[in-house]
Amino acid sequence: MKNIMVTGGAGFIGSNFVLYMLDKHPDYNIVVYDKLTYAGNLDNLLAVSDEPSYRFVKGDICDRLTVEETIKKYDIDTIVNFAAETHVDRSIMNPDAFIQTSVYGTYVLLEAARKLRLERYHQISTDEVYGHIPAGQSSVEGDKVEPRSPYAASKASADLMVNAYHITYGLPVTITRGSNNIGPFQYPEKVVPLFTTNAIDSKPLPVYGDGRQMREYQYVVDHCEAIDLVLHKGAIGEIYNVGTGEEMENLTMVEVLLDTLGKSRGLIRHVADRPGHDRRYSLNIGKIRALGWQPRHTPAEAVAKTAVWYRDNEWWWRKVRNRDFDAYYEKQYGERLKGK
Ligand code: NAD
Ligand code: DAU
Repeated sequence: MKNIMVTGGAGFIGSNFVLYMLDKHPDYNIVVYDKLTYAGNLDNLLAVSDEPSYRFVKGDICDRLTVEETIKKYDIDTIVNFAAETHVDRSIMNPDAFIQTSVYGTYVLLEAARKLRLERYHQISTDEVYGHIPAGQSSVEGDKVEPRSPYAASKASADLMVNAYHITYGLPVTITRGSNNIGPFQYPEKVVPLFTTNAIDSKPLPVYGDGRQMREYQYVVDHCEAIDLVLHKGAIGEIYNVGTGEEMENLTMVEVLLDTLGKSRGLIRHVADRPGHDRRYSLNIGKIRALGWQPRHTPAEAVAKTAVWYRDNEWWWRKVRNRDFDAYYEKQYGERLKGK
């Protein structure tokens, strides 16, 4: 492994992964291949923009020609695929781009990896593919996928295709399924950066339903470390869950965030719930622990650290909370916040 193409590398987790890998493996070359949708942001990669071992290519993973040209031009041996539409609420409004990118786009990448005989194809997946998990249970990698939102279904479809390419063509693949990542550079449509930036401006925090849903809020760099480990020590054809081993109710997350920022709990506003809302995800992380990885942050530490980053980095998020963001916010929350 020497020349890695990181698809979706200008997004939240992808950019954190690029920064992590260039620091940890100075002998690797990284090509970020990204369409720069609303969620892609080259500000995330400013710290490495002058590094000779980093290159950026603007491209769509659905565009077979450009994908293949990029792989050949940069002598790519490994693809790590982060590219996806990622916000559940947007997938409920309009699933089209989710299906295009995660289903067709993943297929294009797999075909290119097969045809050009790459050493490794790694797929970034999610705990959402397992669906809602009842209390007392947790998901192991062999469990069947039962996605319940268009987003989760698009991600589960991609996983199935990756597995099919391994079994049918012997493509050397691995998959990681992460829990809710938080940290620097996350687009503020996701709950932690949305609530943090709202709280900084003393705006209400729209908590869906009773707020008792459970998530494993994971610090993004912990996830990056796990992906690096799987790339180097993971067994070909295997799936690895990457979580925290600890769940947190959304209301607890909100309290940690408000307390960290010194803001009033009076900002909490319960609003109409998300349709089909998965109440709980829970990952069994025994398999990746056995490879030698462990989470370095609890969910509470991750939430507090993230809130501090947004407090200290208004230069980043004020540009992102622009007119397009406001239009999305009005569509998603306008009626809800009026109590409808
Ligand atoms: P993000 O929305 O911040 O970034 C996605 C990136 O993909 C953006 O840079 C965007 O421009 C790019 N992209 C989208 N469509 C593309 C296309 N057709 N071609 C090329 N680039 C395209 O997403 P994220 O939160 O960083 O998530 C990255 C990956 O990790 C996704 O596959 C997601 O499903 C998965 N994941 C996310 C989380 C989470 O909590 N955020 C948890 C587990 C897994
Ligand atoms: O679990 C991994 C997944 O985590 C990733 O695969 C997805 O890409 C990522 O978006 C995230 O999905 P969630 O739907 O869990 O994340 P989100 O930040 O949208 O919501 C987290 C929880 O907070 C969820 O229970 C819904 C709730 N929520 C969310 C928003 C945006 C609210 O209560 N209010 C909100 O305004």
